[in-house]
Amino acid sequence: MCGIVAYIGPKEAYPILVKGLKRLEYRGYDSAGVAVLNGALHVYKKAGKVSELENYTIGKDVSATIGIGHTRWATHGVPNDINAHPHLSNSGNLAIIHNGIIENYDSIKQELIKRGYQFHSDTDTEVLVNLIEEVRKQENATLEDAVRIALNEVVGAYAIVVIDRNNPNQLVAARKGSPMVIGIGENEFFVASDASPIIEYTKQVVYLDDQEYTVINRDGSFYIKTLGNVIKSHAIQKLEMSLEMIEKGGFEHFMLKEIFEQPKVIADAVRGRMNAQDGWIKLGGINEYLNKFANAKRIIFSACGTSWHSAMIGEYLIEDLARIPVEVEYASEFRYRNPIINEDDVIIAISQSGETADTLAAIEMAKERKAMIYGICNVIGSSIARASHAGSYTHAGPEIGVASTKAFTAQITILTLMALQLAQARGTISSSKLREILVELENIPAKIERALKLDEQIKEIAAIYKDSSNFLYLGRGYNFPVALEGALKLKEISYIHAEGYPAAEMKHGPIALIDENMPVVFLATNASAYEKIISNIQEVKARKGKVIAVVNEGDKHVRSLADHVIEVPATEEVLSPLVTIIPLQLLSYHIAIMRGCNVDQPRNLAKSVTVE
Ligand code: M6R
Repeated sequence: MCGIVAYIGPKEAYPILVKGLKRLEYRGYDSAGVAVLNGALHVYKKAGKVSELENYTIGKDVSATIGIGHTRWATHGVPNDINAHPHLSNSGNLAIIHNGIIENYDSIKQELIKRGYQFHSDTDTEVLVNLIEEVRKQENATLEDAVRIALNEVVGAYAIVVIDRNNPNQLVAARKGSPMVIGIGENEFFVASDASPIIEYTKQVVYLDDQEYTVINRDGSFYIKTLGNVIKSHAIQKLEMSLEMIEKGGFEHFMLKEIFEQPKVIADAVRGRMNAQDGWIKLGGINEYLNKFANAKRIIFSACGTSWHSAMIGEYLIEDLARIPVEVEYASEFRYRNPIINEDDVIIAISQSGETADTLAAIEMAKERKAMIYGICNVIGSSIARASHAGSYTHAGPEIGVASTKAFTAQITILTLMALQLAQARGTISSSKLREILVELENIPAKIERALKLDEQIKEIAAIYKDSSNFLYLGRGYNFPVALEGALKLKEISYIHAEGYPAAEMKHGPIALIDENMPVVFLATNASAYEKIISNIQEVKARKGKVIAVVNEGDKHVRSLADHVIEVPATEEVLSPLVTIIPLQLLSYHIAIMRGCNVDQPRNLAKSVTVE
């Protein structure tokens, strides 16, 4: 986590850094800082949001044309002014910003202490900058060489930028396991965790690969080398992102904007990838590996959080439609539990950010065991996308709200296309059924539009239950992962304890929780389990629980039992998560707002979890 940004060029660095940090705040927001170099090296840092830093720097000397900035998600040391980045070396000559974790920092720290170094913060980053300083002293090395040698001694993940008080004409930046992009402007360069701080200045970028570093000079020259000191050629890429995409566009919060973007997101996700009339599907990446997929003994999904919920829906879709056995793994468990992986397994990693440390490590492990890796990512050029043999982008546009919404529905859309394409290739679906589902997939954006119109009604329900301490979310079949996702949305942004369960599991434990204070959200749209879910609703009502039911438009039966019904347009059961999740996203959004929570930047969280 953490966001980093750096600038060198003819412009004032400070405003570029601060604006960049605000855009990167989704990556961490417990403290922020900048270092600017104008003869003297000025470091300003503050606990809290970037706005606290801005207030703190009012009237201070920030005028410089080179600088580095950081917004933090604490790993080592509590969020306070001292632990905030940038960190200085003992001599005060070097300043560093760092996104990642240095795992062997403690042993290095003890060694440096023996050599007389003093530490002021609790961070691993302060250890790294002093290690670079020590290497530089011992080896009489240039900054570039010192950074490279030091990085070869550390274990862990990093994206770092280092500047030297005595050289205002150079930045040295390196990455391993944490993202980094270099923006190339007119006689100016930017370095950042993602392209959002860069987009308004240049569209020309280079993505640094793992274990690479760059030396950027004010005279306009720069080069990239591996940590083994081998020069690397680099391809300059054109950013597809626009400024509009990373702004709120009239919505009060990014989360709300992203919820309302979903009709367009689904339409974009299927564009050019299917044709309902002709009954074809061409998902990039699957085509080249169709045989591998179609003959796979097993598909294993690996993901975290919301992306793991998408993976569960992927399991239901692929087993149901294409009849290939599927397993769904939490990446954090998968990577460490010595799983059995065969060459004829296909591993699908799902990740919005494409940077989640556990998911990335899981696919690296599976790759070593010769499995084929398919990545479903939103962020173009992200580490997981690049580490995969093939894959599909979700093309949902930047998702900035920490709570994932549009990325979830975009992932499910891709998984639906994948399941259908595999089903077609394996002959497990009739062409008429295939066309029926594809036609309905084309109708989904309009159905989501209709579901979004329920916003006011959902707001009223939110007002009734906003002070509840607990929520249960229950669903069956395709709606079970939706229940899990609904519960995650509520807890992460409103801090209300919420749990999702398969509806039938309720009587094996959670039913003990039900009383008149327990709101239970039922997903009651699937025809295949309708009668059974009615029984589950009755079981809750018999114990005085409050029932909020998401049903198909026109449903009378559930209405007669539930305290509140939210009517969404009916659709094919395999597509139902795309519609039923919408009211749950809105419910959590409104409850969080009514509780005064910061929905875009919930406490303790960060958008992309690049640490274990
Ligand atoms: O970027 P990823 O999809 O790999 O992220 C995985 C999770 O960290 C993420 O989905 C998280 O659970 C969201 N905050 C949930 O809204």
